[in-house]
Amino acid sequence: MPAGVMKGAHFMPPNPLYIDHAEGCYLFDIDGNRYTDFANHHTAAILGHSPPEVTKTLHAQVDRGIAFGAPTTLEKEIAEELTNRLPSVEKVRYTNSGTEASLNAARVARAVTKKPLIAKFEGAYHGSNDAVEFNTQHTSGPAEAPNTTATWDGMPEGGEKNVVILPYNDRESVELILRQHKDRMAAVFFDGRPGWYDMPLDFARFLRKITEELGILLVFDEVISFRSSYSGYQGLAGVQPDLTVLGKIVGGGMPVGAIGGKASIMDVLDNSGTPTGLYHSGTFAGNHFTLAAGLATLKALTPEVYAHLERLATRLKENLRIVLTDSGVPFHLFGQGSTVRVYFSDKPVRTNRDAAQADGEMFSRLVLGLLTVGYYARDGMGFILSNPMTVEHVDGLAEAVGKVLRGMDS
Ligand SMILES: Cc1ncc(COP(=O)(O)O)c(C=O)c1O
Repeated sequence: MPAGVMKGAHFMPPNPLYIDHAEGCYLFDIDGNRYTDFANHHTAAILGHSPPEVTKTLHAQVDRGIAFGAPTTLEKEIAEELTNRLPSVEKVRYTNSGTEASLNAARVARAVTKKPLIAKFEGAYHGSNDAVEFNTQHTSGPAEAPNTTATWDGMPEGGEKNVVILPYNDRESVELILRQHKDRMAAVFFDGRPGWYDMPLDFARFLRKITEELGILLVFDEVISFRSSYSGYQGLAGVQPDLTVLGKIVGGGMPVGAIGGKASIMDVLDNSGTPTGLYHSGTFAGNHFTLAAGLATLKALTPEVYAHLERLATRLKENLRIVLTDSGVPFHLFGQGSTVRVYFSDKPVRTNRDAAQADGEMFSRLVLGLLTVGYYARDGMGFILSNPMTVEHVDGLAEAVGKVLRGMDS
């Protein structure tokens, strides 16, 4: 296994933690250590680990059979749950991952508009695919008009001609770039990054207004941000995108992705009559384990759960502010929904360029130090909350952060 792990993001220097099992808000490693989990499976485990409503339905699904290669009635149930929560979503198509969902959303946007360009924001990650993996890890060119460059070697040459990079939080430049390319631009992909970048909700409203005016589709990537409220980031912002890319929590811990949107757009995937020219498939897409776990998760995610997570996040921020101030290190702290983020920088973090100026090395050392006192977090992700957590867990984390920072001085 390259780096000794099955997935690049699972490697954690100097060595990854190997997990034996997980329950509630705890991970247990193979040496028997317990960690309060503030990473929550890359944000996907909003109900924590092994929530009874999800494990119960998964056991029941095993008894029904492993894979059918035909639809189940779960499809209708989960589609209804999503369309009820997201007024912008009239039709849904499932995929196996957020990566596949964003790849297919790009195809849908290009097929419907018959235009070639996709715009995305510098620093935004929409999955590991050649349609959108540009300027995710790096910056290139001027901040107000970045150059498009592929993130990885091995991506087809020329792909960058189909992608335009936008600067987060810079309305004037975004408007200029969109006006310049409007006739050839199919869609703008946008992840509001709640709790990751300091971004007013009004920026999403601005994007809706300008894309509507210019006849460009707006695609919200809610793979992570859907956890920020009952109706996702779009609900918080009061914006209806044309397409929404989903993943993570909508699979209840099973592999998942989904695309949702207006019927007039999504129907390009309907080949039951005259072929539309775009077909999407996936052997395991919409499998009954994913749908059942996702449905149980969505049903358990009541407005009360979101209120609980908000209360915990507010308390965590208050306590972190105290310990970080005591430590004397420059910091910028913010959060939204169930994500709380600390940057070791005295500047607000509004773009990936601001984030790159923060002391990432120090955050990595904090994450490692937290591991030694029983808290699991991930570099570059902030602190992710889950429903089984209580005041004691978030107070414990803040206290542990203080302890680790004091230890770094000595
Ligand atoms: C915002 C965003 N979009 C898309 C993806 C890709 O999802 P997946 O890892 O399920 O392929 C991710 C994954 O972390 C993500 O954070």
